[in-house]
Amino acid sequence: MGLDFFSVLLVLGLVLNSLLLFCNGGLTSSFVRKVEKSIDMPLDSDVFRVPPGYNAPQQVHITQGDVEGKAVIVSWVTPEAKGSNTVLYWKENSSKKLRARGKYNTYKFYNYTSGYIHHCLIRNLEYDTKYYYEVGVGKTKRKFWFYTPPEVGPDVPYTFGLIGDLGQTFDSNMTLTHYENSPTKGQAVLFVGDISYADTYPNHDNNRWDTWGRFAERSTAYQPWIWTAGNHEMDFAPEIGETKPFKPFTHRYRTPYRASGSTEPFWYSIKRGPAHIIVLSSYSAYGKYTPQYTWLEEEFPKVNRTETPWLIVLVHSPWYNSYDYHFMEGETMRVMFESWFVKNKVDVVFAGHVHAYERSERISNIAYNVVNGNCSPVKDQSAPVYITIGDGGNIEGLANKMTEPQPKYSAFREASFGHAIFSIKNRTHAHYGWHRNQDGCAVQADTMWFHNRFWYPVDDSPSFDS
Ligand SMILES: [Fe+2]
Repeated sequence: MGLDFFSVLLVLGLVLNSLLLFCNGGLTSSFVRKVEKSIDMPLDSDVFRVPPGYNAPQQVHITQGDVEGKAVIVSWVTPEAKGSNTVLYWKENSSKKLRARGKYNTYKFYNYTSGYIHHCLIRNLEYDTKYYYEVGVGKTKRKFWFYTPPEVGPDVPYTFGLIGDLGQTFDSNMTLTHYENSPTKGQAVLFVGDISYADTYPNHDNNRWDTWGRFAERSTAYQPWIWTAGNHEMDFAPEIGETKPFKPFTHRYRTPYRASGSTEPFWYSIKRGPAHIIVLSSYSAYGKYTPQYTWLEEEFPKVNRTETPWLIVLVHSPWYNSYDYHFMEGETMRVMFESWFVKNKVDVVFAGHVHAYERSERISNIAYNVVNGNCSPVKDQSAPVYITIGDGGNIEGLANKMTEPQPKYSAFREASFGHAIFSIKNRTHAHYGWHRNQDGCAVQADTMWFHNRFWYPVDDSPSFDS
């Protein structure tokens, strides 16, 4: 009898112990989205409408054109002929119109021939100023505007939108609409990769790159989108003779990579207001001695937290991901770069790729050296928060299978489409909020106050005890 009682205690102890070992540190949201297929909007949808008039400019988009934010690259497509490659631009309330001349290119992809893709760099802009700009000629002239960022500095507030894996479904349209209608107005979009999903069509039907450009124009023409390359930008299709990766992406979208000393458009950095943003490529070599590795090694010492307190990294494939989808795909890059992120106190890493949402605690996993067995992530106040925001709403649908139990490092996860806003207030505080598409525009389903790792490195992810 005594022995039985002792056995029961032993079993209970073991059960309790295993519960403690595997207890869920984070929160798996109880919100369950209705399972529906994500369907691409048909070609005759109003969001894909071609602007009226012969050869009218379409697919207008802008991105930052230099390191500091005093230059903008304006891009657009003229479908039938070269047309004008000039951008007319002027400051609000100024009658003096300035002119910049761009260049155009075209490309072929299997049986598709692109329109004339124009890119025009506008330089020497004034900070914190509204500019109007115009492309096209005669009756097809089209006018847009943008705001330049404030001068790079530590205490200028600035608000970034975060969108990933957008595609062109009805859900994508909802995500973009919610972003546009957010009461916390994003001033620039940090896009974490996977744009059009044209490669899901037979022969990568590049007409779906054009439709995406027209769909997103209502945002991309008015505020810069900072591009990260995703796997759906590769368009590597040797079976149809298309063996040059990133061909449509590099012809259509520009990044200011040369300004930050990069040698390829897929990894680069910019400063924007109070933030230093490093963009990495999951799909370019990053092993030791490679161009991307060498560039990043030289980039970190250039980060000046007195000038730009907030250090943000964008990459497509997440390093910490507790969904079944793309599980551990980011692992090799994590092994290469994570110690640098901790040493340099990166504030936050935004990734896409997994079509769901997840936010981590501040954790690192850099102690492991193959033989010492220290292979679990630990709480680390010098480490970034990792956020997966690949929930734009593309044709491939939601990633709703999660690894169980939820790892302790995972603070919040939910399989819903949406977007996020990262709102920098000053050198110490930034407010972050994730928004799911099912909610009203003002509702944030997951929020966090970020405390800057350089200026105010107090624990801002206290729920995780390693
Ligand atoms: Fe992806």
